[in-house]
Amino acid sequence: MQSITVSIAIQECFFEELPFQERELLQRAEQLTSNAYAPYSHFWVGCAILLENGTIIGGANQENAAYPSGLCAERTAFFHYGTFYSTIKIKAVAIAARRANQTIFLPISPCGACRQVMLEYENKQNHPIKLIMRTFHNKIHIVQSLSDLLPLKFDKNNL
Ligand code: THU
Repeated sequence: MQSITVSIAIQECFFEELPFQERELLQRAEQLTSNAYAPYSHFWVGCAILLENGTIIGGANQENAAYPSGLCAERTAFFHYGTFYSTIKIKAVAIAARRANQTIFLPISPCGACRQVMLEYENKQNHPIKLIMRTFHNKIHIVQSLSDLLPLKFDKNNL
C-alpha cells in the first residue's frame, strides 16, 4: 500500500509584522467579538472580511436555545457577504475569539462547516482568499488560500 501525505503552508509572524491593511482587518475581527450573541458557550467569535475595494464587513457568532440553530461568526459573515456584496471579490478574512468579558484573544481556526462554506465563495470568485488568525504566544498564522484548509475537499467538481 502506498501512503500519501498532504501538507499545507502556514506563514507565521508577529502582529506588528503584518501589513497595515491586515492588522486593521484582524483588529476589526477582534472588535466584532463584542457583537457575539453567545449566552450558552460564552465564547465570542468575530470574523472580518476584506473586499477588494477596501471595504471591511463582518459577523459574529449567534447562538440559540436550540443549540444547532445557532451559527458561527464565519458563516454569519460570509452569508451576509453572499447576500449583499457578492459582486465584489474577497481579498482576505480574519477571525478572532475570546471568552465573554475577557480581553485576551484566544487562538482560533475555523470549524469544518465554516471551512466548507468559505471555500464555496473562494471557488465562486476563482481567486484565493487569505486567512489571518491568531495562534499561541501572540503569533499570527496566515494561510494564503482557504482551499489549503480543506484537503480532500468536496466541491462542485465532485457533483
Ligand atoms: N464558533 C465560531 O463562531 N466559529 C468557529 O470557527 C468555531 C466556533 C462559535 C460557535 C459557538 O457559538 C461557539 O463558538 C462555541 O463553539
